Amino acid sequence: MNDKQRVAEHAAQQIKNGMLVGLGTGSTANYFIEALARRQQEEGLQIEVVASSIVSSIKALQLGLQLRSMEHIAQLDVYVDGADEVAPDLTLLKGRGSDLVREKLLAKASKAFWVLIDESKQVQRIGQNFPIPIEVIPFAWQLVNQSLTNLGGTGTLRSNGDGLFVTSHGSLVLDSVFAADVDGKSLNDTLNAIPGIVEHGIFANLTTAVFCGQNGAIEEKWI
Ligand code: A5P
Repeated sequence: MNDKQRVAEHAAQQIKNGMLVGLGTGSTANYFIEALARRQQEEGLQIEVVASSIVSSIKALQLGLQLRSMEHIAQLDVYVDGADEVAPDLTLLKGRGSDLVREKLLAKASKAFWVLIDESKQVQRIGQNFPIPIEVIPFAWQLVNQSLTNLGGTGTLRSNGDGLFVTSHGSLVLDSVFAADVDGKSLNDTLNAIPGIVEHGIFANLTTAVFCGQNGAIEEKWI
């Protein structure tokens, strides 16, 4: 069992009967979905789930979990997902898998947001290892890109190989790099105020716990 699997099993053990559980997207979230389905089958755990992506919803359905549609829920008990980067103040970078709009909606709507990582995801600052994905309304991409340039950033339209990458909501993605001294939480507030940005990959003030798998052990950080 690798650290991602171990941390996903650990989180699944903390889910209780009657909970409405949000399912993230990515390899760690997949392990969590599998662990939940196993508990349902072996222990009769009674839960409902809501998914942050088509991929996770199909996986949940295939494994027999009771799936609710996002349109029909207003609040979740817990949302569980991976992350691309976790800063010391538990601000996250997410969205390399391009499902960040639904992911952030579920994280915000949830009473608790548990983040599952291995130690490779721990960073000193947001944007240390990856550009920040910024989803933009297609006709506004140049205007948004100029706003990013004015902030000292550089945005690059994400490609899908043959052409431009388009998200499931019809947005383009500007993968954006900022100076190393730009604080993640401040940048979150700045990006939130730029017209034309649909959503971006900085998740600030949302995390309630991080479970980090490290050399076979699990470290928990709670807010
Ligand atoms: C999905 O959009 C991302 O935010 C993922 O949660 C993130 O990339 C973590 O993925 P892994 O669990 O596959 O590392």
